[in-house]
Amino acid sequence: MSTTSINLSLEIWRQKDSKAKGDFETYKLTNISTDMSFLEMLDVLNEQLTREGSDPVAFDHDCREGICGMCGAVINGIAHGPEPETTLCQLHMRHFNEGDTLVIEPFRSRAFPIHKDLVTDRSALDRIIQAGGYVSVNTGGTPDGNSTPIPSATAELSMDAASCIGCGACVASCPNGAAMLFTGAKISQLSLLPQGQPERKERAMAMVTAMDKEGFGNCTNERECEAVCPKGISIRNIARMNREFVKASFF
Ligand code: FES
Repeated sequence: MSTTSINLSLEIWRQKDSKAKGDFETYKLTNISTDMSFLEMLDVLNEQLTREGSDPVAFDHDCREGICGMCGAVINGIAHGPEPETTLCQLHMRHFNEGDTLVIEPFRSRAFPIHKDLVTDRSALDRIIQAGGYVSVNTGGTPDGNSTPIPSATAELSMDAASCIGCGACVASCPNGAAMLFTGAKISQLSLLPQGQPERKERAMAMVTAMDKEGFGNCTNERECEAVCPKGISIRNIARMNREFVKASFF
């Protein structure tokens, strides 16, 4: 297997802290293996900056396997970069070309204040979950397997919604800064299942209220969220959330 390498020019948003103004800085990187992931490429840059005595670029990451939702940046205007249904940590440098200039920015949104460089505070999403994104379970013996039958099509819909990793790319890409794809997915995954029924109405009301309180905008069907979602979450979940909210409000 042959490994090729490329040279890149990076325009990276640098911001000292949440109060600082911030601006783009240019960095040149040479001999970047196309086998590297995007985050490994940033690691190489940070080693270079550290050797020079400069401040490394702050960026979020954890699993580097596309499952935790911690990573995220906007690459040339696209949240998580150009590959569909791919998190930044799973994006590989083979998708870029020799001499490319990559503009790298944080996930910008009113509800996501910038901590430093590419690191944003996405705890607003956690507070939406805290408002109702759970089920209460009575303790006791373990229920028998298959004691609660669920049609496979329903289980699939719920699992599709549950695959949301809460990265916030949907918010960053929405012109309204809406978190409706995220909230819709979290409400849907529970409202579709029998286990989610007891708190169904309270959940829809509480999570939508929390979403509004955090300063997220409203959906105007731009579908930018769906286009960048690394897990391919469908905007049908937004329609389901709206139905759940209306039902909880009037019935
Ligand atoms: S670091 Fe966990 S999804 Fe990217």
